[in-house]
Order: sequence, then C-alpha cells, then structure tokens
Amino acid sequence: MAINWVPDHIPPEMVRDFSLFKSPGMLPAPNGDPHAAVACVHAGPPIFYSPYNTRDGRGTWVITRASDQRRVLQDAETFSSHRSIFASALGENWPMIPLELDPPAHGIFRSLLNPLLSPKRAMVLEPAIRERAVALIDRIAAAGTSCDVMKEFAFPFTVNIFLRFLGLPDHRLDTFVGWAKDLIHGNHLKRPAAAQTIVAFIDELATKRRKDPVDDFMTFIVQAQVEGRQLSDAEVRGIGVLVFVAGLDTVAAAIGFDLAYLARNLKDQELLRSEPDRIALAVEELLRAYPTVQMIRVATKDIDFEGAPIRKGDYVSCATMIANRDPAEFECPNTIDLARENNRHAAFGYGPHRCLGSHLARREIVIGLEEWLARIPAFRIKKGTAPITSGGHVFGIKNLILHWS
Ligand code: HEM
Repeated sequence: MAINWVPDHIPPEMVRDFSLFKSPGMLPAPNGDPHAAVACVHAGPPIFYSPYNTRDGRGTWVITRASDQRRVLQDAETFSSHRSIFASALGENWPMIPLELDPPAHGIFRSLLNPLLSPKRAMVLEPAIRERAVALIDRIAAAGTSCDVMKEFAFPFTVNIFLRFLGLPDHRLDTFVGWAKDLIHGNHLKRPAAAQTIVAFIDELATKRRKDPVDDFMTFIVQAQVEGRQLSDAEVRGIGVLVFVAGLDTVAAAIGFDLAYLARNLKDQELLRSEPDRIALAVEELLRAYPTVQMIRVATKDIDFEGAPIRKGDYVSCATMIANRDPAEFECPNTIDLARENNRHAAFGYGPHRCLGSHLARREIVIGLEEWLARIPAFRIKKGTAPITSGGHVFGIKNLILHWS
C-alpha cells in the first residue's frame, strides 16, 4: 500500500510533509513534547494536504485554524463522521455509536446516552473515583520513591472506573488493562486480536444482561428503546465498544501528559500542591495545552474550503492539538498559564459530537491530580529515562517514570 499517494485534484503547492500519526518530521518530538512540535504548523497556511497523516494509507486535509475547525465540525451534512474505524480493523463495517453516526440517527442515540454521562452521574461516581485514586497512589507511595505512572496509576485508574461504570467486578482489571494496551499500543497483529476480544466480551455481556438484567449500564442499553424498538445487536455492540475506547486512553493520556508537565515544572507543581483549589482551573489549561484527540471527517460532496479543493470522499483532519495552539484563538498559546481564564479550548471537540464523557473525564483528571499531589512529594522525571509519546487518532504517552525523595 503506497502511503504517499496524492490524489490528482490536490494542487502540489498545498501538499506538506506532516503527520500526527508518527514521523516523518513530527513525532517523536524533541524533548518528548509532541504538542510543541505540532504547534509549528501555525507558521504555515490555514489548510494543507498531507499524504502522511494516515494509518490506513489515505492522507488527509489538515485544518489549522480553530475557527475553521469549528466550521467543519458543525457541518455534519458536508463533513460526515461515518467511518467505522474500529470495525475496519476487523475487516467489518459497523459504526461506533454515537461517534460514527451522522444526524438524524446520531441525535437519537446521543439523547439515549446523555443521562448516563451527565454532570450529576459524574458526581455520583466521585466517591468511587477518589477511593480508587487513593488506593493506587498509597500503594505506589508505600512501594518506594519511583514509579511507572502509566502502568501503575493512569491505566489501572481509568480502567477501574470504566469497570465500575459498566457494573463489572474489579478482579477483571488486569485483563482489561492488557486489552486496552494491546488495542492502543499493540502491533498490527495484537491490535486486531485485542479488538476481536473486546467485541466478543461486549457481545457476551449483552447476552448475559438480556437474560439476567441487573442495575448497570449494559442492562440499560439492552433494555433501551429507540423509536419504539429495542436496539439491534450491532447497535449494542457499537455503543459498548465506543464507551470502552472513548474513556480509556483519553483520560489515561491526559493524566500522563499532565504529570509529565508538572514533573518538568516544579514551581507549578508546588503551587498546585500548596493550593489545591487551583487544580480544577489548571486542568483546563493542561487540557488546552496537551489535548490528545485528532478528529477526522469525510467530505460528502465537493467543496472549496478556504481555497482548498476538497472533493467528495476526502478525509479532513481537525486536530485538537492544533486548534488549541492557534494564536488567533489564544494569547501566547505556547505558554502554559495555569490560571488562564476564559479558556474555551477544543480538547473535547465541538459541534454535535462534542464529548459526552467530558464531565466524567474532568472529574477523573482533577481527582487524580488532587490525590497524586497530596500524597507524592516533589517529583521529577527519573534521570536516565525519557517519556515516549505516540501519535494517532489519540496521542499517548508511556515510559513516564517519575522519581521523588
Ligand atoms: C480527557 C478525556 C477525554 C477527551 C480528551 C475526549 C475527547 C473527545 C472528543 C474530542 C470527542 C469528539 C470526537 C469527534 O467529534 O469525532 C469525544 C466524543 C465522545 N466521547 Fe470523549 N473524551 C474524553 C473522555 C471520555 C470519557 C471518559 C467518555 C465516557 C466514558 C467519553 C465518551 C465520549 C463519547 C460517547 C463521545 C461521542 C459523542 C458523540 O458522538 O456524540 N469521552 N470525546
């Protein structure tokens, strides 16, 4: 498969060598800071085409201005979300729901899920989230003066919350962490195998809950009605898989990037430790500066967009890591100001698909940082180690080894 094929309708002067998936030229980034590296696109044109911004061999248009991204994300008629990313890894074609549906079907399923991820629901989960954070961090603190943050804290923390959300027992934690890691960081063999395992698990859980209903998320889904009918097996699977994928690596990566920033900026670390009331506002700035999601849309018709001849079927990338460093949108976008006000960042997307889990995600990140800073003294990145970041639809971070004394 040629990955540098440029379709004939793209003017050569609009083509750039750029990738949010991996190198060339972009990732891994200098000083382990891919966000700073990506911010350089603002020195260039507002839209360009990259044949390298791809995992499946097809390049994308890249929209750099936050205001243009909002135009794309708001216009689902011209820029569709229908892509089946997860299913295509299995050679199948079904949507993750509601993420890969367009209006009007999208709205029907979004309304169904909305109450399950409301601010009120996030508050109900809060004691369990805090209890889990404390248990994990206490264990880390008792074990010594160093830890692998993603392995020992970020992933077990977020997977545990996912299990509680689904109403599943904690003893399956390690299995789920393994699946999540293979899915996100695995090679071309491990990734489809993990996807297959997750689908089989969701299908099996749905069958169980249909037979023996309990008070949990999956029972709600299998009993739910849309337009006067029950959900099909494919719809139940599409929802289950999305909740698994949407909530795991996004929150874990956010916690990882936040702790990496604080490990390198001891003044900010100390400020938040001594004044924890600042953490909620600081998390918004860290979400702005270190967002993780690249959204991709498919053009449903030919359109000229800011001088770019986008043609039906073209992929269009709206990357939150680009929008959030737009100088037309944020004053000094590359300066991290933990007290930044009116921070209307794009970390959770924009338009009809704006993240449904943002309330839960915010609580997880804030509580994770509160408990970490309350229990772990001044920490730095361990000498001789360096975090490894990865690109993709979701940016990730691993080998984040922190040390304290
Ligand atoms: C820091 C953590 C998170 C970030 C940065 C994030 C980011 C995003 C973004 C950018 C979108 C829009 C995607 C698009 O338009 O194509 C989205 C959608 C979504 N997210 Fe999140 N997310 C996070 C955590 C979560 C959590 C914890 C859940 C739930 C358990 C969740 C559930 C969803 C769902 C269901 C959608 C689809 C909404 C729709 O299509 O209407 N997310 N997320």
